[in-house]
Amino acid sequence: MSSTKAKKQSYQLLRGMKDILPEEERYWRFLSERVVDFARRFGYSRIETPVLEQASLYLRSSGPSSDVVTKEMYVFTDPGNERVALRPEGTPGVVRAYIEHGLLNQPQPVKFFYMGPMFRHDRPQAGRFRQHTQFGFEVIGDQSPILDAQLIMMGYRFYKDINLAIQIDVNSIGCSVCRPRYVKKLTQFLTDNKKSLGLDDQERLKKNPLRVLDSKDPNLEPVLQQAPQSVDFLCDECKDHFVLVLEYLDELDVTYNLNPRIVRGLDYYSKTTWEIIETARTGGQDSLGGGGRYDELLHTLGARAKTPAVGFACGVERTITRLRANDIAVPTLPKAGLYIAQLGKEAKKKALRLFTLLDSEGYHVAENLSKDGLKTQLESADRLGVKYALIIGQQEIVDNTVLIRDMENGNQETVDWAKIVPEIGKRLEKGVNSKRLERQQPPLLPVQPQ
Ligand code: HAM
Repeated sequence: MSSTKAKKQSYQLLRGMKDILPEEERYWRFLSERVVDFARRFGYSRIETPVLEQASLYLRSSGPSSDVVTKEMYVFTDPGNERVALRPEGTPGVVRAYIEHGLLNQPQPVKFFYMGPMFRHDRPQAGRFRQHTQFGFEVIGDQSPILDAQLIMMGYRFYKDINLAIQIDVNSIGCSVCRPRYVKKLTQFLTDNKKSLGLDDQERLKKNPLRVLDSKDPNLEPVLQQAPQSVDFLCDECKDHFVLVLEYLDELDVTYNLNPRIVRGLDYYSKTTWEIIETARTGGQDSLGGGGRYDELLHTLGARAKTPAVGFACGVERTITRLRANDIAVPTLPKAGLYIAQLGKEAKKKALRLFTLLDSEGYHVAENLSKDGLKTQLESADRLGVKYALIIGQQEIVDNTVLIRDMENGNQETVDWAKIVPEIGKRLEKGVNSKRLERQQPPLLPVQPQ
């Protein structure tokens, strides 16, 4: 062998990225089915926007002082010399699509949901990935506080239904009319306490003092507990809005905590903000989901009319991690009810035909067509727990038949090829796992041409 042979390179997952292996599939399937079901029940239509957008979209929306944009966004110049970014979050793309496709002309509000990958060049640590998946719900075109309450309730119900104990922390950060007065007061307070602020928080104080309230620095905790609270500075409109949100939540029996520190890490929020936190893990832990109102974002991104909006999004990986950590059972994937086994060259061809025939009739069929030994195939059938094995050997080829073997009691019966479909139909009538599940792809939102 040549000593100059190039050394084989081995490839590894990029830091902060995650492979989703088949053993996790049922969690993903479970959650995405729940999301689609929720969306249908509450009247939301699916929207999917591209993973790649103009970088300036996020600069203008998520905000030039947010960590997401300043430190975490994957930005690059594409071969066409355009500055593009991998989306760090879903909301700006949905808003862009709403404006660009003139959805303002549809009956308002328009309710969207989405589920897809987001990219943040975060410092890798537990619960933080550089590619993560969010499902989100956005309502655009209505300012009523009842929508904020309904969305909070949806997040609450979603996690309650999947048996994760969560709490909702709510706050109001006011609007562009009343927030400046609050930010001034907060800046004064934090400046007076500057010696307690670490370097990161001193930087935040310069760029966006609200974000200091989000600090995870335990030494700052006693100081922040004394900080002025945004709810004490709300204008009448924001105050009335917040009171109504809380009244609706009481009506809906949603338990919530008023938390003056929920200011959120993105710049577009106004009025109501909230986070969904696992009850067992409160206190500086990453939240499962979060959201809020963003009444001014559409105008910032070019909508002509005033277009209020509200929404929230949750992290799928974090949710799955918590489901697993709490040993919460999720349904197993549907299993095949039939197994096709074959022996011999001609039988292999016929088995291929039988598989196609039964699959097109809607049966969920397992096989191992690349294998030769009948014993190995029947052992696989046994392991899979199928009800019947359909065997094609030399004799069956000659007679144009199929041997049906009941895997529970070992009884076997020979059936004419022409009668195999009705025969299977009779046997699996009462059986579970016989027909495969329809793969339900929710239709995409029909976008109206302008
Ligand atoms: P966000 O709070 O930045 O909000 O992200 C929503 C959720 O995504 C978080 O609560 C968390 O579960 C998950 N998440 C965020 N970053 C990571 C990460 N690096 N690794 C794993 N999971 C992560 C938003 O993105 C807003 N767009 C939500 C929204 C919708 N507001 C209004 N409408």
